[in-house]
Amino acid sequence: MKKFNVQLIIFTVVVFAACGANKTRQAKSVETPPVATVKPAIKNGTHAPGIEEVNAIQSKFPGVTLEKLTAGYKIYTEGACTKCHNTNNIYKYSAAAWTNILEDMSEKAKLTDSEKDAVSKYVMSIKAMQPM
Ligand code: HEC
Repeated sequence: MKKFNVQLIIFTVVVFAACGANKTRQAKSVETPPVATVKPAIKNGTHAPGIEEVNAIQSKFPGVTLEKLTAGYKIYTEGACTKCHNTNNIYKYSAAAWTNILEDMSEKAKLTDSEKDAVSKYVMSIKAMQPM
């Protein structure tokens, strides 16, 4: 009986230690902060993408990430799209007009396929969240 109790205690200690170790490992592997903590942007049609834009674009294109939209935002507001003119308000043009504009301007800006995709997804995510 006594021997059994000792074994039970050892077993319990080992299990708890294992759980504790597991928790520490999990805590360490968390690197990126949750998207919800990103500062909410001023919605002016040239604003940084946030969680709402990611959710909106993911309903059409499931794989699109905030990183990709942010890359598109950078190209659009401070990259290749600002070489010839200032940043246009995305709200000013319809989604259909944007499809044509993006074809035309991506060529003018000599964007790579992945840059073009990032700018397009960014623009469409802003359009998707445009207030009526
Ligand atoms: C090589 C110069 C150049 C670059 C780079 C450039 N644009 Fe333009 N953009 C123009 C010119 C010129 C016009 C006006 C004439 C036209 O519509 O072609 C224009 C017009 C626009 C318009 C207004 C369209 C309209 O119908 O009124 C938008 C929006 C636009 N560009 C977006 C972009 C975006 C997005 C990028 C980056 C992918 C970009 N531009 C890069 C030269 C450029």
